[in-house]
Amino acid sequence: MEKHAKLVTYIGVAFLVLLSSLLVYGYIQYTKLTAAHSSLQQEFDAAKVALSEKEALVGNSEAIINELKQAYALSEENGSELHELLTEEKNRNEEFEEQIDDITGTVGKLDKLSKIDPELLQKYSKVYFLNEHYIPEKVTEINETFRFKTEEPEYIHAKVAPFLTNLIEDAAEDGITLWVVSAFRSFDEQKSLKTAYTTVYGSGANAFSADQGYSEHQLGTTVDFTTTGVGGALTGFEKSEAYAWLTKYAYKYGFALSYPKDNAYYVFEPWHWRFVGEDLADDLHDDGKFFYD
Ligand code: DAL
Repeated sequence: MEKHAKLVTYIGVAFLVLLSSLLVYGYIQYTKLTAAHSSLQQEFDAAKVALSEKEALVGNSEAIINELKQAYALSEENGSELHELLTEEKNRNEEFEEQIDDITGTVGKLDKLSKIDPELLQKYSKVYFLNEHYIPEKVTEINETFRFKTEEPEYIHAKVAPFLTNLIEDAAEDGITLWVVSAFRSFDEQKSLKTAYTTVYGSGANAFSADQGYSEHQLGTTVDFTTTGVGGALTGFEKSEAYAWLTKYAYKYGFALSYPKDNAYYVFEPWHWRFVGEDLADDLHDDGKFFYD
């Protein structure tokens, strides 16, 4: 019995020791786990803070990226505007350059004109003769829109062409239509024309048509104009606004009337204008004189 009580006591003590050990162990584990939990919690909190900082940074970066995108779009827009402006400016400069080249070229050509081809400023009306071999050094086809008969080409001395173009275009801006009926005529063309007129009018043709070799048209510097309201004819031109305009302004383009009223050579030809150069045309205009004066 005593033995049994001792055994129970031992077992009880052992059980208590075991229980205590378990409690201690449990406590230790709990403490460890609590520490671990707290450490994890701290890490978690720190990670959370870091994350929100990063999120803020990302938010900022996105805002910055958006701003950059807007700035880029704006600069692209400005850039393309600038590019357009630059292109316009470049084109304008090129136009200016071309105009300057034209003017310089024309001035240079005119200078040469009197040196290379003195015959251009000679008088050709029943006195001076151009033989059948004389042709201008170069002719240019007159713009179709400047011709009365668009289907038939007409040619002008290449050096006179820019002056004629300016004259016709400026007249058009003033509401005046000028069409070229006839310009350069070769020796042979003049011969055929004169023969045809002579067949119809006999010697009367001499009053309005030059013999071959004596026509200013062979120089390539002369044009016969017509205008609206006269049916493409030459007669009636005298009373047209076009003639009034030419009388007033043709000299500015280097043209002069060859056969005014009561001239010594032919009937009055208000349609017949020859290029004599701006200086001479200006002088003639100032003095109220004509080429054959
Ligand atoms: N009509 C002018 C005079 C010419 O034939 O040249």
